[in-house]
Amino acid sequence: MPERAPRPAPALDARLAALDAAGLRRTPRAPVGRDLTTNDVLGLSRDPAVREALIQALAFGVPHGGAASRLLRGDHPAWTGWEEAVAAWQGAPAARAFSTGYAANVGLMACLPEPGDLVVSDALNHASLIDGLRLSRAQRAIVPHGDLDAAAAALARHDGPAWIVVESVYSMDGDRSDLAGWADLADRTGARLIVDEAHATGLYGPEGQGRVVAMGLRDAVFASVHTFGKALGLAGAAVVGSEALADWLYNRARSFVFSTAPPPFLAAGLHAALGRVRADPALRARPALLADRLRAALGPLDTGPSNTHIVPVITGSAPAAMAWMAALATRGWDARAVRPPTVPEGASRLRLVMHAPLSDDDVDRLASDLLATAPAPA
Ligand SMILES: Cc1ncc(COP(=O)(O)O)c(C=O)c1O
Repeated sequence: MPERAPRPAPALDARLAALDAAGLRRTPRAPVGRDLTTNDVLGLSRDPAVREALIQALAFGVPHGGAASRLLRGDHPAWTGWEEAVAAWQGAPAARAFSTGYAANVGLMACLPEPGDLVVSDALNHASLIDGLRLSRAQRAIVPHGDLDAAAAALARHDGPAWIVVESVYSMDGDRSDLAGWADLADRTGARLIVDEAHATGLYGPEGQGRVVAMGLRDAVFASVHTFGKALGLAGAAVVGSEALADWLYNRARSFVFSTAPPPFLAAGLHAALGRVRADPALRARPALLADRLRAALGPLDTGPSNTHIVPVITGSAPAAMAWMAALATRGWDARAVRPPTVPEGASRLRLVMHAPLSDDDVDRLASDLLATAPAPA
């Protein structure tokens, strides 16, 4: 038999050129100009109290390396203490800490639903939820964004355990999900509800717990995911829920089990950041107030369904978004275009994040620069 030569993989240069041609190629870009992109929405990544807590932890000899998986020598008391603090803050029995929100979602979604289960997932859910679901062997029903009726229909067709997974605040459209509606659907159908609070943690609720607590839905939610690289200004995440859930994740979430524990000194910074968040309602409210001001000033521009601190300004075409980004850069703004595959084809946009360090004057100047440089309608 003649030996079969493997077919060479397509040249990456050609694939990159195709991205270029479609206006979709990303290249690393050093931050220049006034920041409109950050998820550090409370400015805590530079907070002096948080920095001091980190310095003190290191000075007292708290390790700066995780050393091993939590299941081995990495189970430092700093992390169990942090998990207890998160659970108490959230009014939940337990929390399990992960290195990142991505790892939390992938680990959670891959190990929770079992083969034969159905997972109903909102079409705009974050890539980390999608990737976790792809690793699970459950059936999936991807429903149009916020479509409770489509979700109900998918659940009605399924005979067996079911899960619903949604975000609390959607990171590209800046809209809030109908958590009460999702909780009601879960209650009616017996499905278990998972809520990713990445963009709500630190901003909503009496102590910044997120929208689940703000809406009194803690008992209606099976698991909520809270990331600490955004409003808390550091890194990491926690999955919050029952003791059994935390225990299951400890045993079965592969992104937890097979990964080095995050550095223990980081936990000291997280306690300090959480302290700042809990103590300062005015700080927590600031990004939403700035966003209201921006939306009100933008008049004819299309900000989609945004009603949070995330304000997309939709252009449709990717090249138009790129040109607008460049025009704003000449006026000193670092606004980033978001293009497919992060958003659907034809829904390219600038994604503007209102964060606490911006002043009212900054927002007014931004609004007038956006209006002055807006691309002509296609
Ligand atoms: C909704 C959502 N979930 C999860 C993540 C991942 O969190 P992390 O950046 O901590 O990995 C993100 C990050 O952008 C997000 O927007």
